[in-house]
Amino acid sequence: MRFLVRLLGGIWLATLVVSAGFAYLEVREERERQIESLKRRATLVGAAVAEASERLVTRGARTGYERVLTRFGTPERGLAIYDAFGGVLGATADVRPFLGPVSPLVSDAIRRNEPVAGFHNVAGRLTWVHVVPVQQDERAAGAAAVLLDAQYLDSGEWDLWRRTAVRMGVLMLAVTGITWALVRWSVTRPIARIAEWTKQMKAGRPVAPPPDADESLFGSLASEVTGLARTLARARSAAEQEARLRLAGESVWTEERLKQFVEMRFGRRPVFVVSNREPVSHVRDGRVVRELEPASGLVTALGPIMQACGGVWVAHGSGNADREVGERVGLPSSDPAYTLRRVWLSDEEEAGYYYGFANEGLWPLCHIVHERPRFRAADWEHYRAVNERFARALLQEMEAVEEPIVLVQDYHFALLPRLVKEARPDARVALFWHIPWPNFEAVGICPWQSDILLGMLGADLVGFHTQFYCNNFLETVERAIEGRIEWDRFTVVRGQHTTHVRPFPISVAPDLGGGVRPSDRAGVLAALGVTGEFIGVGVERVDYTKGLPERIRALRRFFERWPEYRRRLTFIQIASPSRSRIARYQAVQEETREMVRALNADLGERGWQPIVYRERHHDHREIDGFYRLADFCMVTSLHDGMNLVAKEFVAARGDDDAILVLSRFAGASHELRDALLVNPYDVEDVAAAIHRAVTLPVEERRDRMSRMRTQVREHNIYGWAGLLLDELARIPRVTDRRAA
Ligand code: F6P
Repeated sequence: MRFLVRLLGGIWLATLVVSAGFAYLEVREERERQIESLKRRATLVGAAVAEASERLVTRGARTGYERVLTRFGTPERGLAIYDAFGGVLGATADVRPFLGPVSPLVSDAIRRNEPVAGFHNVAGRLTWVHVVPVQQDERAAGAAAVLLDAQYLDSGEWDLWRRTAVRMGVLMLAVTGITWALVRWSVTRPIARIAEWTKQMKAGRPVAPPPDADESLFGSLASEVTGLARTLARARSAAEQEARLRLAGESVWTEERLKQFVEMRFGRRPVFVVSNREPVSHVRDGRVVRELEPASGLVTALGPIMQACGGVWVAHGSGNADREVGERVGLPSSDPAYTLRRVWLSDEEEAGYYYGFANEGLWPLCHIVHERPRFRAADWEHYRAVNERFARALLQEMEAVEEPIVLVQDYHFALLPRLVKEARPDARVALFWHIPWPNFEAVGICPWQSDILLGMLGADLVGFHTQFYCNNFLETVERAIEGRIEWDRFTVVRGQHTTHVRPFPISVAPDLGGGVRPSDRAGVLAALGVTGEFIGVGVERVDYTKGLPERIRALRRFFERWPEYRRRLTFIQIASPSRSRIARYQAVQEETREMVRALNADLGERGWQPIVYRERHHDHREIDGFYRLADFCMVTSLHDGMNLVAKEFVAARGDDDAILVLSRFAGASHELRDALLVNPYDVEDVAAAIHRAVTLPVEERRDRMSRMRTQVREHNIYGWAGLLLDELARIPRVTDRRAA
């Protein structure tokens, strides 16, 4: 309240000073304008009266002035005519008795033989008196006086002040009302909500932060408080989870356990991650710079690990505002736990290394989806150069760290492990390959197969999602390069160096909040413009390996075979544009759009569309909302290393009441055996799975989901990292940090 009074006091004072100042200037200007006008009128009338009375005055006539006085006099304009000695020859009746104060002016005008003017009080009223000499042979033979009533100058001034006072009063009332409302809505209420929220958090009740904490108003304070509260909430829920698990005698990996494990195994050593995709990119949106979390399973998986362990994440700075924000950024921005070190690439380098060799060469090489890989020498050169560039950045970052732990991610950096190990033999280097590894015949078509394998074997540990990919890899090595494969230990020995090859099925963070369906599902759907008793969801990057056209074909078949589900089932497809500079990606994007359009046109009815297609980037929170809304989720990749959407969906369904339709060609199908497994190429099979998804008895739905949730919880991302780091820790130490 005191704040409001002080604020209003300040506003009132400012209003008062400004309004009064302007009113004063207005009054002064108006007065000057009116005086000017008075002078002009008096001068004109004075000259006219002097001229009209000139003949009489110079003749010394004592009478005959009435005609002049009647002609020029009015009720507001008194006139008087004088002889050469200042004696009154004639005057209008209204001023005649009050001419006393005018006499000195008349004498003055006659003596100086020039007009004299000024304000005088005549008959108790403010009067402008203008006296003009009446001349004969250029000498003053008399004078004519004009007396103009100027009393209205004073009263006009008061009027103006009065009007100003009323205006000011109204303004103050309006300002008071608006300020009060604004303070209440934008300050008092949000602060009260933040206070209530903090109270709830303190009491251990995790509630969402209030939506109206305006950051532009509260500045960094709001985000600091929010960050602090989130950290507290995370710490509290991690601790609670730990305690729960301990009581239940379970040994599930958690964030806390991973932290302790890293500390125990490696001391307080930071973890170094290298990936092409950065965990957060900065994009300019008009005048603001927004943080964008990319649609990437890799980022979903490694984010929590870096938050738990801390360290440096080296990645390509690809956001259009990344350079503005900086080369090194603390993440998450609300509560930094690790550093993102950005590596800048030119358009040409990105085209050759990322779009070219990695995504037009290695990507189709490793995915068996009948897309012919393209290998260009120029792309290979860029790929090599960029791997070297990343290696330099990484070596620089870990310069001061003994025996650093390095986790290299994915097919973008096949050459990097060897480069790092050669420069820093003391580093423990793991390479995790997030996509499938095909059979040795398929790999054999790559002209640089040996360089790739030798680069990868520079690592101490090479990880794949499944044992099947490990076997494929070992077989490829056996056939393609010199080296000893120890099949019983799953290692490759080349000279002094041993590379261990192991499966580590990647996963997601377990859902601590116990995701449930929104209670107002109908309301949420209405807000999205979606209708339907049953909701299916698909979340994909638009990639030809994800089987989007095949899925739409299956949905069409479903509605044809079971028309009773028209108007009752809607499928929401979240499609995140990806690698759009590559022609094949543009083609699949076009094809998907066109198939959705055609299906909606053929089967859609007024107020219902079979597919709601949302083609844009969605952040995690939005996607989580869709997961919780859906009755079933479809992951029907034609070939996929793991597919974390499947695991994310399971983790998000704390209510256990949902079905996962999953491709048997996705790595996740090895673990999520309770999904409805399908062959994505078989339209009838997928259509039938959709039908099963919406008709399965509730108990079976729950049983299946509950078993899958247990699987994801017990084999979560912290476990993935823990087992990988454990394996890395077992590798014998090399004490000499420099290469010979
Ligand atoms: O699946 C391989 C992968 O690199 C993932 O790790 C990641 O989720 C996805 O591709 C994203 O691709 P990009 O970074 O090219 O958008």
